[in-house]
Amino acid sequence: MKTIYPDSTPKKDFHQFMLGGIVPRPIALLSTIDKKGINNLAPFSYFNAVSSIPPILMVSIGRKADGSKKDSLINVEETGEFVVNMVHHALLHPMALSSVAFPSKTDEFDMTGLTPLPSENIKAMRVKEAKIQFECRLREIKNLGEQAGEGSLIFGDVLCIHIDESIIGENNRLLPDKMDMIGRLGRSYYTRIKPESILTVVQAQQVRPIGYPALPVSIRNSQILSANDLSVLAAQTSLPDEKELEELRGRYASRLLSDENIKHTEIKKAIEENKIELALKITYL
Ligand SMILES: Cc1cc2nc3c(=O)[nH]c(=O)nc-3n(C[C@H](O)[C@H](O)[C@H](O)COP(=O)(O)O)c2cc1C
Repeated sequence: MKTIYPDSTPKKDFHQFMLGGIVPRPIALLSTIDKKGINNLAPFSYFNAVSSIPPILMVSIGRKADGSKKDSLINVEETGEFVVNMVHHALLHPMALSSVAFPSKTDEFDMTGLTPLPSENIKAMRVKEAKIQFECRLREIKNLGEQAGEGSLIFGDVLCIHIDESIIGENNRLLPDKMDMIGRLGRSYYTRIKPESILTVVQAQQVRPIGYPALPVSIRNSQILSANDLSVLAAQTSLPDEKELEELRGRYASRLLSDENIKHTEIKKAIEENKIELALKITYL
């Protein structure tokens, strides 16, 4: 492993290790308005939800190379409000275009062709094309410094969320496969959440899982089963009972019972086919 300390690494490189290592990051397309009513739009990926109760978002806005403040920060300081528009694939290039340091008087809605939509609670406009828009009121700014790149953390109370109904499913739950969101990787790289890249993991929370130590030693030391496979087994909440195992022993040839490699391969296959109960039973044969 390469170990990197901020004090002995050029700032630019450390920045790239942060950017490229903490991925993927959601992108806030931040819309603000200045005192004179000029709109501003810029993307920020040092951004996340930091609390649900109360609902709070955080965006980190770094200083420009000359140490001056970016327009987004100036506007948030002046008006105490902003909108976070989530970026889906159709907004990838307008988002990138809006990151250009246009002169302060430039309205990036004009420059990108995106449509300003009035907000319900604040003056800053929303991006009409965005599927999710968070209207926010400034709660607090935590300044981390005034040198180039040093940031100001903007905490905003979420006043309301506007959501495209096409991405809301049953029981009022958002549908990740319909959202087509993008995320930021390092440098010029981005990722797109396609339906086939979405993973479903249902982990029982109320009932205690059997845990890794409950797995037989030969299984824990398997060269065939991965750490993921072992955790799928360890996440189950009860061991198979002896009667079930007896039935299964009758069905499997004795080779499987005596050859650990065959046994582990069968377990892996069952996990891949999402037959977790069967995988657990074979584990204890
Ligand atoms: C995808 C993406 C993510 C970005 N994330 C950040 C960020 O988290 N913090 C930051 O200060 N600048 C970030 N930037 C750069 C700003 O968008 C850029 O400095 C912009 O010109 C600021 O605009 P403003 O002066 O209108 O506020 C990002 C740029 C891109 C393309």
